[in-house]
Amino acid sequence: MASSVPTIMSSVVAAKSRLRESFDVKSVFAEVEGELGRAASEIAARAADGEQIVPEISYADILADTVSTELGDAVRARGCAIIRNVFARDQVSAWNTELSDYLERNSYLDRAREKAGLDKYFETLESGRPQIYGIYWSRPQVAARQSESLTRARLWLNRLWHSRRGAGVDFTPDRLCSYADRIRQREPGDKSLGLSPHMDGGSVERWLDPGFGRVYASVFSDHWHEYDPFDAAFRPDVKEIPSPAVCRMFRTYQGWTALTEQGQGDGTLRLLPIPRAIVYLLLRPLLDDVPADSLCDAAPGRALGASERWHAPLLPAFVSIPKLYPGDTIWWHPDLLHAVEDVHTGSRYSNVMYISAAPDCAKNRAFLELQKPAFVSGKSSPDFAPEDYEVDFSGRATLADLSPLGRQQMGFG
Ligand SMILES: [Fe+2]
Repeated sequence: MASSVPTIMSSVVAAKSRLRESFDVKSVFAEVEGELGRAASEIAARAADGEQIVPEISYADILADTVSTELGDAVRARGCAIIRNVFARDQVSAWNTELSDYLERNSYLDRAREKAGLDKYFETLESGRPQIYGIYWSRPQVAARQSESLTRARLWLNRLWHSRRGAGVDFTPDRLCSYADRIRQREPGDKSLGLSPHMDGGSVERWLDPGFGRVYASVFSDHWHEYDPFDAAFRPDVKEIPSPAVCRMFRTYQGWTALTEQGQGDGTLRLLPIPRAIVYLLLRPLLDDVPADSLCDAAPGRALGASERWHAPLLPAFVSIPKLYPGDTIWWHPDLLHAVEDVHTGSRYSNVMYISAAPDCAKNRAFLELQKPAFVSGKSSPDFAPEDYEVDFSGRATLADLSPLGRQQMGFG
């Protein structure tokens, strides 16, 4: 897909015009706004009453195969889940210490400051420390990604998706691909990491790319109720506009594993637990009050944002996630709006390993081929800025650290 600004703008005008002619936008949107607005108000009221909005699952129940069908349905309805105690707390505390040692022993901060162009980045930070670290291949990260327990947890989550289409398969539900992401060490008082409401995994391409067009075919029609966020059909076929901010794997869930205790106010995650809110975002730019070349502020290569100006009825449903403890994990659908609290007002570091769920499918296997050499040489994941800090880090994970499961998930056969 061409990504020059004039080309994108003319594609936007053409796509909007085509979509507006293909169904009754006004009446469909009125229905969507009514229904999703009511859902948002209901969630806001329940949260205000102290109800726990994000479904919680005990990892022990996944292991024993005793999670109720109702709880699985709740995860589908909310588009997110907490899975608690995936790892023992002692194990996670040891990993947290090892990660700090790894960064310190290899002078991460000094090296980061030396990198061209990064000085300015650090100057703007209140504390002069990064909060997200560009490391991918520490032993704790590799151990967590390939662990039996996190694998079981993600396979359980993936089975909530419809992965078969007729005789075809969109992804293999009993296998994962490993996606190397970074870590966060957010220090108390940090004000630099707040993120406004957004979703990852593509912005303008959701209206322009033929793959996304098939994923959202029922949204752009008079039958929007038929849209099922957990239907994987065509999702592995979408083409993102290349950008360091956009993930090239098909992730069934974004997620992270807590390395330290963290709760509301500790600069943590906020979620808008309505997976069908994407329908509102997709249809809103088709209304008459939006300029012909506008997708309500969506921009190529950026996260897709939601704002008071365009998406006000949805926003009351934003909830902060409850307190997580070391070894707990949080997961959210790739089309779920999320945000990060502006300020960390707590008194302890809130640390996480970003580890998402990426199923085994052709798209993800293709990405593994790019990721494998990065692992072997210690370079940054090919989806992120090529900082390559770990190339000569001591204590980095190597092929010898991969278990048979890890080898399979990394694509080493
Ligand atoms: Fe995000």
